[in-house]
Amino acid sequence: MQVSNLPFLDLSEKQPFAIGDNRLCFRHPDDSGLCIKINRAGRAGRLRGQAPLYKRLRREKHFDDNWQEFYAFQQPAIRTGGPELWRHLPRCYGWVETNLGPALISDFFADPSGDAAPTLEQYLKHHGRTPEIDEALDEFCAFLRSSLVLTKNLLPHNLVVADLDRELRLILIDGIGLATLLPLAKHSTLLSRRHVEKRIRWFEHRLAWETGSRLESWQTAEAKFHRYARPRWRRAPSGRARGREEC
Ligand SMILES: Nc1ncnc2c1ncn2[C@@H]1O[C@H](COP(=O)(O)OP(=O)(O)O)[C@@H](O)[C@H]1O
Ligand SMILES: [Mg+2]
Repeated sequence: MQVSNLPFLDLSEKQPFAIGDNRLCFRHPDDSGLCIKINRAGRAGRLRGQAPLYKRLRREKHFDDNWQEFYAFQQPAIRTGGPELWRHLPRCYGWVETNLGPALISDFFADPSGDAAPTLEQYLKHHGRTPEIDEALDEFCAFLRSSLVLTKNLLPHNLVVADLDRELRLILIDGIGLATLLPLAKHSTLLSRRHVEKRIRWFEHRLAWETGSRLESWQTAEAKFHRYARPRWRRAPSGRARGREEC
């Protein structure tokens, strides 16, 4: 029985075009230009259970990817930003109720054949660091620096590569928002600049690992990043990795 006032979509006959760690992604049955994402059953509760004690005190919706993403779209840089935002972010159109639970609607990005565009991770696996993708990466990082849109760590499987005739363009389809408990960066230009620069440095480190020999695990490579990216006096003793966000 439908209990909310939201429009309702029956997805029982539909297959998701992708399944992420947290969400099922479907094409919108009435509009192929839209994507609808639904939390995987029980995922938010499990994430909450695995979180450190101080984070577990927060309500379950803080572990709900869709709710977090919707909230992240309300950040000042997006609320007050211009049309250039939509070169690198999907638009978020709000909620719809489905038989699998509430779903968030956003733009769908297709490859030239109409299927979902490849992720940056898939692109790098097939083609490596081409001049075209380097140009797209430069443009994307310049966009972050000028818009100051706040993101979590930039994971290559959370960016898709849109192939637009003569150029490639990167779009962040997951990972908008802040993972920190205190969202200070939202309220200060200085802190948001620092936040963005840190995410870009982390992203560069991840890309180097992604396209390198991968002789060491990502956990080891990331621990090194955190160890050496900080001033000497703030470095943790070796081997102690920080708690982190992945999605
Ligand atoms: N708007 C979109 N357009 C095209 N492909 C998408 C879009 N959103 C997600 N995808 C694909 O679905 C996968 C999972 O989506 P994502 O939002 O990252 O889910 P999760 O929150 O579970 O990580 C992505 O890695 C990407 O391949
Ligand atoms: Mg994801």
